[in-house]
Amino acid sequence: MFITFCVLLVAIVPGILSLYWGADHSLQFNLPVFTVAIIDFDQGEVGPYLQQMGATTRSMNPEMTLGYVSEPGSKYNFSNEQTRRALKQEEFWIGIVVQANATTAMNYAYNEGNTSYDPSGSVHVIYEEGRNALAFAEFAYPALMTFMNSFVMHFAKQKQSELLTANTGDAAALARQAQSPIPIRYSVYNTAPYVPSTAEAATEIGTIYLIIISFLSVLMFGALNESLMGKVSTARYYIYRMTLLPTVCFFLSLLYMTLSCMWQIRFDKFFGSAGYVIYWMLSYVSMLGFGLVIENVNNVLGQPFTPVFFVFWVISNVATGFFPIELLSNFYLWGLAWPLRHNLIGSKAILFGTKNLLGLNFGVILAWVAVSIALQPLTIWLQLRKNKSNIEASKKEVLERVYGEQGEKSKEG
Ligand SMILES: *[C@@H]1O[C@H](CO)[C@@H](O)[C@H](O)[C@H]1NC(C)=O
Ligand SMILES: *[C@@H]1O[C@H](CO)[C@@H](O)[C@H](O)[C@H]1NC(C)=O
Ligand SMILES: *[C@@H]1O[C@H](CO)[C@@H](O)[C@H](O)[C@H]1NC(C)=O
Repeated sequence: MFITFCVLLVAIVPGILSLYWGADHSLQFNLPVFTVAIIDFDQGEVGPYLQQMGATTRSMNPEMTLGYVSEPGSKYNFSNEQTRRALKQEEFWIGIVVQANATTAMNYAYNEGNTSYDPSGSVHVIYEEGRNALAFAEFAYPALMTFMNSFVMHFAKQKQSELLTANTGDAAALARQAQSPIPIRYSVYNTAPYVPSTAEAATEIGTIYLIIISFLSVLMFGALNESLMGKVSTARYYIYRMTLLPTVCFFLSLLYMTLSCMWQIRFDKFFGSAGYVIYWMLSYVSMLGFGLVIENVNNVLGQPFTPVFFVFWVISNVATGFFPIELLSNFYLWGLAWPLRHNLIGSKAILFGTKNLLGLNFGVILAWVAVSIALQPLTIWLQLRKNKSNIEASKKEVLERVYGEQGEKSKEG
């Protein structure tokens, strides 16, 4: 026993936790996965300059920079609406859209004069924070800002020195130049903001608690289940066991939903009031999916392996769910089928209006539920067989009690 426990605990720390550490480790090598589409509607000086800068940055350090790619404005029919649609369809992570006539407006200010020239609308940076706020905050956004600020700086220096040469001796032109010291700037549009702050609970850390609650349900009822073995008929025992978790999870998921509502998370922004129902159903099937897997493992292996499996279950789900799988090394591709990932993607679509993959999400989670339910009779049977001697003993006890009482009664009679 002692040896088993030690081996298991040692296996947990370097073994299972490695899954998470490994995932974190692989993130830094996959930055180019964050595709940054530099889209040129301008076709003047600004667009090509920015595209060239993206290409140079990338070729200087191909492994460690964001995935800058140049795209012609015609691909999106020179329409901001279409670039936003492409962003929502996750065709790229970040779009840098050089607006039409950015160059024209800039040169107008220098050649003719425009005291109210404001270049910040010339370049639109668009992204959806809600797609993965964690990855954005940690990896994409800081690198993006460094890139954009460096663009503003370098472009201004180049333009100003060009103008200085051209305007030598022309006081009026020099004055116009001084009026607009910054030729081009940018504005950032976050089209799926990660709000309210409590949304983090419903789309990230909070979902770990879903797994924990399903684990608790299995553990708590485990003792009760064992005490019932042999005391009720086998058929009734199976029915009881197989309806228990779906019923418990039904009420717990309703409570889970209520909890989010109590803390004023709104689910109706993108799906109307159906958003509440969809989110509840997603929580319900996820909880059931998590719980049934743990239940089956508990039936087959029992203590002390159930908690070890639980650690694996949480960590493998978190490692593949919290970060975009594309950002991890290929080892983690199995995570595409893991349930928490789909719960998170679905929740984000409901809360932030990111790409709607709810059909796929429900499909994957329901597949887990279906396979687990199909296996459940087998695992219950295995558990019963393992506990045969206990069951025989309690059956005998029941018989003795019944016949013993009858014996007493017949004596009294
Ligand atoms: C492209 O935009 C033009 C004008 O804005 C419009 O007339 C045309 O139908 C658009 N084409 C496509 C394929 O969307
Ligand atoms: C851009 O500039 C050209 C030429 O000055 C003009 O014909 C066109 O209407 C402008 N387009 C926009 C979107 O302002
Ligand atoms: C001057 O600059 C402002 C702000 O950038 C812009 O809205 C306006 O169209 C410009 N005026 C001319 C004549 O280009």
